[in-house]
Amino acid sequence: MRILVTGGCGYIGSTTARLLAKSDHEVMVVDDLSEGHRQAWPGALEIFDLRDASAVQSFAAANPVDGIVHFAARAYVGESVAQPLRYWRANLVPVLNLCEAFPGTPFVFSSSCATYGQPTTARLDESLPLAPLNPYGATKAAAERLLQDRADAGQGAFVALRYFNAAGAAAGGHHGEHHQPENHLIPRAVMAALGRLAEGLQVFGTDWNTPDGTNIRDYVHVADLAEAHVLALDYLFDDQPSTVLNLGTGRGYSVLEIIRAVEEATSQAVPWTAAPRRAGDPAELVADATRAFEMLGWQAEHSALEHIVQSAVVWHRKNPQGYSA
Ligand SMILES: NC(=O)c1ccc[n+]([C@@H]2O[C@H](COP(=O)([O-])OP(=O)(O)OC[C@H]3O[C@@H](n4cnc5c(N)ncnc54)[C@H](O)[C@@H]3O)[C@@H](O)[C@H]2O)c1
Repeated sequence: MRILVTGGCGYIGSTTARLLAKSDHEVMVVDDLSEGHRQAWPGALEIFDLRDASAVQSFAAANPVDGIVHFAARAYVGESVAQPLRYWRANLVPVLNLCEAFPGTPFVFSSSCATYGQPTTARLDESLPLAPLNPYGATKAAAERLLQDRADAGQGAFVALRYFNAAGAAAGGHHGEHHQPENHLIPRAVMAALGRLAEGLQVFGTDWNTPDGTNIRDYVHVADLAEAHVLALDYLFDDQPSTVLNLGTGRGYSVLEIIRAVEEATSQAVPWTAAPRRAGDPAELVADATRAFEMLGWQAEHSALEHIVQSAVVWHRKNPQGYSA
């Protein structure tokens, strides 16, 4: 099948594009390189901004595809609180443009656990009402709704994958996470341990209602996420109905537990300081991913915390400048 991967020069997108190519799909990546890296995806690439409707239309006219996997978005909760309009344009307009330009094409969408807000249940399943606490989560919930309306009208099926926290790198350290600036906890903790974060690691809130007072998140290896996209496309090519699926492990780790895991993997101390809570952050997000197993046969197989952290350490040690080198 010919698959369009948007945002395929980014972290999760490039990992997925590589796996799709290995699975004998023909992969076409579109990315504007606003955040991504050319070196992350060695295959076919068109560089343009998906917010530009006429560019998307021209691309679609020249490149019919069998399926779309849409990663391109801005993905920083704090930035979305400060710049909500930028997030609504960045995260919703490309979905609309792609749906208009590729009528009927099966669509796999990168959604997020940020759509849930802060439910009180220990593990979050897909039946919970969506109540995002920040504009980032709200844009993801709105895009899901757009895709649901399109599907209800018989204009194209979708699978929305609600990732919990993506982390880790390819075995051997040739391919990994490089955000600029890096805002994710595991890479920041590794950078701090390796002496590459001048200011050390900030821990946003040590007074949350959790056992050690720090946030709890569910970390899933990027290789497991990539696998879920391949399965989701197969599911849609089998004419199965549209659905929304959590991707996580069902096990949460606090920030302090992550710091300890990074200290063990690097044999270095992680220098950290307590900072105030960030606006829009929930205390705890842990997935119930039963449905992804039932519908796709998906399970997180590479997501043991030690493996995630170890793979991230190898990537950072081998690539001190990320892809910039
Ligand atoms: N990283 C996580 O833990 C996480 C968790 C939940 C959901 N997600 C979602 O997964 C997706 C990928 O996340 P990531 O961490 O790989 O992000 P990333 O920033 O590494 O990748 C996004 C890619 O999209 C490109 N892009 C952004 N806007 C574009 C536009 N208008 N036109 C063309 N290209 C554009 C960027 O250049 C980048 O290469 C995002 O949709 C994000 O919201 C990520």
